Amino acid sequence: MAPELRRFHKTDPLPELLKGIEEDGAIAIDGLLDVDVLARLNSDVDAHLEAADPAMRHLNPVIEGFFGDRTRHVAAMASKSRCFAEAVMCHPTLLEICDEILLPACANYVLNLGHVIDRGPGAVAQLVHRDEGVWIHVPRPAPTLQLACMLALGEFTQENGATRLVPGSHRWPVERQPEDEEFVDAAMPAGSAVVYLGSTLHGAGTNSTEEVWRRGMHLSYVVGWLRTEENNVLATPPAIARSLPERAQALLGYAVHDAIEDMGGYAGMVEMRDPLALLREGKL
Ligand SMILES: [Fe+2]
Repeated sequence: MAPELRRFHKTDPLPELLKGIEEDGAIAIDGLLDVDVLARLNSDVDAHLEAADPAMRHLNPVIEGFFGDRTRHVAAMASKSRCFAEAVMCHPTLLEICDEILLPACANYVLNLGHVIDRGPGAVAQLVHRDEGVWIHVPRPAPTLQLACMLALGEFTQENGATRLVPGSHRWPVERQPEDEEFVDAAMPAGSAVVYLGSTLHGAGTNSTEEVWRRGMHLSYVVGWLRTEENNVLATPPAIARSLPERAQALLGYAVHDAIEDMGGYAGMVEMRDPLALLREGKL
């Protein structure tokens, strides 16, 4: 039977979304962003994308090869868009999903990264991967470490390189490689998203159009004791973070990870205190 990407709407009951994620490792959520939020976010993104260079230098040649030279990135979105920091990163549906998927293995979760990934004509399919490969040193089996979301800021089609995913692959042994017919394309209108586990195989598709850019936003969350891909405290420093809502500050990594109730300890202190309190008191 051909695999399919189960589709839900933002207003569907949370248990149904969770069941889909747990069973398939990935679901589509239509209408995740309201029309006005999508418009504000896109307008924030416009100026930054114009300045983004598709041939930008990455950390090393491996990462450069992964992203290719036809992709424009805007990193550290929380420092560049209040709309992102408040309405997207703190989106209630995403946080409700994270509460169920990530909280069993941590005291709080944080943003891993929030980037715009704008893939131009000629961008070839990404290497199929699991996002949790970043934390390869964690012994397996492990609890779910990451929940990711690819948001369509413009329409995603098979032609312009919609994300390709392998439903069910979150349960596969690591050595199993997917066959072509096991992939589904996350074709979706702007404002929709595909939400997937860090252990689900996926990758951006090839953009075979002549002139259509595929504007997407990757945002993901990880258990709060894990080192994040983007150093969010440096990327959104106190000068910017102090004017954001406390929930946003916490998601950016300003809150301590407090595992005392679980007979653990603290991580992320400054001067033996919670940086969130220091921000509140004007000491950061
Ligand atoms: Fe990925």
